[in-house]
Amino acid sequence: MFTRAVTRSAIATGRGNASLFLRARGVASPLASAGRRCISVYGYTQSKALIYSRYGEPKDVLQLHNHSISPPNGSQVILRLLAAPLNPADVNQIQGVYPSKPPFETTLGTQEPSAVAGNEGAFEVVATGSGVKNLSKGDWVIMKRTGQGTWRTHAQLDESQAIKIENKDGLTPLQISTVSVNPVTAYRMIKDFCEWDWMRSGEEWLIQNGANSGVGRAAIQLAREWGIKTLNVVRERKTPEETEALKKEMFDLGATAVVTESELVSGEFRNTVKELTRQGKEPIRLALNCVGGKSATALAKTLAPGSHMVTYGAMSKQPVALPSGLLIFKDLVFDGFWVSRWGDKNSQLKANTINDILELTRAGKFKDIPVEEIKWNWETEGSVLANGVQETLSGFRSGKGLLKYEGSD
Ligand SMILES: NC(=O)c1ccc[n+]([C@@H]2O[C@H](COP(=O)([O-])OP(=O)(O)OC[C@H]3O[C@@H](n4cnc5c(N)ncnc54)[C@H](OP(=O)(O)O)[C@@H]3O)[C@@H](O)[C@H]2O)c1
Repeated sequence: MFTRAVTRSAIATGRGNASLFLRARGVASPLASAGRRCISVYGYTQSKALIYSRYGEPKDVLQLHNHSISPPNGSQVILRLLAAPLNPADVNQIQGVYPSKPPFETTLGTQEPSAVAGNEGAFEVVATGSGVKNLSKGDWVIMKRTGQGTWRTHAQLDESQAIKIENKDGLTPLQISTVSVNPVTAYRMIKDFCEWDWMRSGEEWLIQNGANSGVGRAAIQLAREWGIKTLNVVRERKTPEETEALKKEMFDLGATAVVTESELVSGEFRNTVKELTRQGKEPIRLALNCVGGKSATALAKTLAPGSHMVTYGAMSKQPVALPSGLLIFKDLVFDGFWVSRWGDKNSQLKANTINDILELTRAGKFKDIPVEEIKWNWETEGSVLANGVQETLSGFRSGKGLLKYEGSD
C-alpha cells in the first residue's frame, strides 16, 4: 500500500485546503497551476486523488481530494502520474461488487476513511529517498500489485511496491499504463490453460467473445504471434457499416475470423465453424469468455473434445449455463482466471510477462488499444473525472477511458 502521505498533526489536509499548510509556514503560495510542479519550498508535493469513502456509482461517490505528500524518506519515492486506464474492474470496485476491496483509511487526511480508486497506471519517479537503491528520478514504473490506488496525480510509496520499466525507450505512457492487466490476462490464459501442439502451428484455434475488449485485442495479437488461429466474437454496431468497421479492426490486429454475437447464437454457426476448421481437422482448443449467458454456451459448443474454456469476465451479468452433454461426453474443462490473484502469487513471472509484452510492443507487433482520453490537469474538476469514470461500463464505446495527467512534474 502507499505509505502515509502526510501527518495530520503537521499539516492540515482535506478537500480544497492545500494552501493551508503553506500559509501556516508563512510561505507565499507557489502552488501549481496546470503544467507547473506541485511542490513547496519545503519539498512537500501537492497531490490530488480520486477517492471514495462509500460504495456506489462513480459519479455519486468519487471525490477529488487535495493533500500534501512529505519529501521521500529512506526507501520511499515520489511518483507523478503519467496515465491510468479506466477498467471495468475499477468501476466494480467503486460499486462495492468486486471481490477485492481496498481498505478505507485516513492516511491521506480525508475527513472519512477512504480509498483511492484505480488499479493500473504508469508513473514517473520525481524524487527518491536517500535509501532508494533501484529507482532514479525519471524512471517509469507501474504498481507491483492491484489495489494500490492509481487515480492520483502524485503518490509516495516504498520502492519495493513498484515495478521499474527497465527499458522505456520507444514506449508511451499509454502502452505502459495498460500493460499489466489486460495483456497479462490474455497472455496467461492462452499459455497456461491449453497444451498447444506447437508442431501444429497455424492449425489450432481459440475462440473468444468480447474480442474488441482490451483483453480480446491482446489475445488476438498474442495468438497471431504464437501461430494460433482466432475466431472472434463482437457485438453488432448500430449499422452494418459500423459492424464491418469493427470487424476490420479485429482483422487488422491479426484475427483469423470475426463474427457477431447474433451469428454466434444462430443455427448457422455450426456450419461456419465446420468450414473454418476444415471439418474439425483444425480443433478449437481454447475458449475465452468474458460475457457469460448464451454467448458463453455457444462458445463452449464449438470446442473440440478435451478442450478448455476460461471465464474471466461477466459483462452480460448472465450466468454461464452449460449443456450437461459437453461435460459428460466431450471431457471439456471449465476454469476461471483472475489476474490479480495470479499476479500476487507469481510476481516474478508477472514481471517477465510484462517485459515480453513490452518487447512485442517495442517491435511494433502489439498495437495500442483505442482510448478515449480524459485530460487531467491541476484545474480539472472532480466531476469531470467522475463522469468519465461513470461512462466506463457503458457498452459500444470507441475506446477505453484513459486518465492522462498533464502536470509537468
Ligand atoms: N479475470 C481477470 O483477471 C480480468 C482481467 C482483465 C479484465 N477482466 C474482465 O474482462 C472483461 C473485459 O475487460 P477489458 O478491460 O478488456 O474491457 P474493455 O476494454 O473496457 O471493453 C469492454 C468489453 O466488454 C464488452 N461489453 C460491455 N458490455 C457488454 C455486455 N452487456 N454484453 C457483452 N459484452 C459487453 C464490450 O463490447 P462492446 O464494445 O460491444 O460494448 C467490450 O468488448 C471485463 O469483464 C473485465 O472485468 C478480467
